Amino acid sequence: MRVLGIETSCDETGVAVYDTVLRGAAALRAQALYSQIALHAEYGGVVPELASRDHVRKLVPLIRETLAQAGMTPADLDGVAYTAGPGLVGALLVGAGVARSLAWALEIPAIGVHHMEGHLLAPLIEDDPPAPPFVALLVSGGHTQLVAVEAIGSYRLLGETLDDAAGEAFDKTAKMMGLPYPGGPQLAALAEQGTPGAYRFSRPMTDRPGLDFSFSGLKTQVLLAWRDSDQSDATRADIARGFEDAVVETLAIKCARALDAAGSNTLVVAGGVGANRRLRERLTTMCAQRGGRACFPRPALCTDNGAMIAFAGALRLDAGQHDDASVRAVPRWDM
Ligand code: KG4
Ligand code: ZN
Repeated sequence: MRVLGIETSCDETGVAVYDTVLRGAAALRAQALYSQIALHAEYGGVVPELASRDHVRKLVPLIRETLAQAGMTPADLDGVAYTAGPGLVGALLVGAGVARSLAWALEIPAIGVHHMEGHLLAPLIEDDPPAPPFVALLVSGGHTQLVAVEAIGSYRLLGETLDDAAGEAFDKTAKMMGLPYPGGPQLAALAEQGTPGAYRFSRPMTDRPGLDFSFSGLKTQVLLAWRDSDQSDATRADIARGFEDAVVETLAIKCARALDAAGSNTLVVAGGVGANRRLRERLTTMCAQRGGRACFPRPALCTDNGAMIAFAGALRLDAGQHDDASVRAVPRWDM
């Protein structure tokens, strides 16, 4: 089954084709991504109306480009998957409308995919994928969750953030210290130049049992440290390093706990913050020390992309599921 995947939930237009007959990373036949970062940069964040309009402009050309890359025509497709939510409703409607229309014209099934299920399954696109049961850490701009994956489609929430998501904390902290949008990756790059230990921030909620997170207090600690500092470039890098170490260590402590709670030694990491180099290193070491394994998608499949939607949709369509002819766009939706 060859499935076209469409992602338009926020500020990236992502398209891909996944072929269920092929195995491993080769099954991802083609993918294309258009990032709206430059469009939103001057506003310091995503402007929903501008995002929708840009998806309208970019989506159809990207579908053409992806099919050309795969050496396919629309007639070669067996199904269409699109992000049905959660996300910006106008942006979602663009992807959903195009996906449904295409499926209707080609007389093939379409399916709406949960954006976070897409992220969660992205590590399984790679060669030598882990098989459930495993524990997944979902760390994006909107979510920070630990999930026990009993089987594909069977998810149990173990813990989640009580306030800011990890990616959101990265972005807000970066903004506070004057870094340009999007802050997370910029802050991580700056942290590479910082001195470890020059600033030490707390590891929130690790001193008591439980698997929930809270990152908003950490953000306030950084704000106070930055305000009282000389605000030099070197200090900014040191604070960035202290912040990153605090987030990474907190996530590592909770992941180890979640593995214990689930009786598993396999950790799957997904979502934009999963692209963070130090987090990848730390979780790889933590899992290796307990004789297990940490699995990550390549960094380009950690952040929003069409491949994860094509893959998650392909699994469902292949299992015989599909939606009726309605256009689904669900801005708030629990997985
Ligand atoms: O999954 P994603 O692309 O979009 C959402 O569904 O939210 O995640 C985006 C988030 C942003 O908050 C961004 O700052 C963060 O992931 N991010 C990073 C890195 N790359 C992206 N955070 C820390 N280090 C990175 N290298
Ligand atoms: Zn995402």
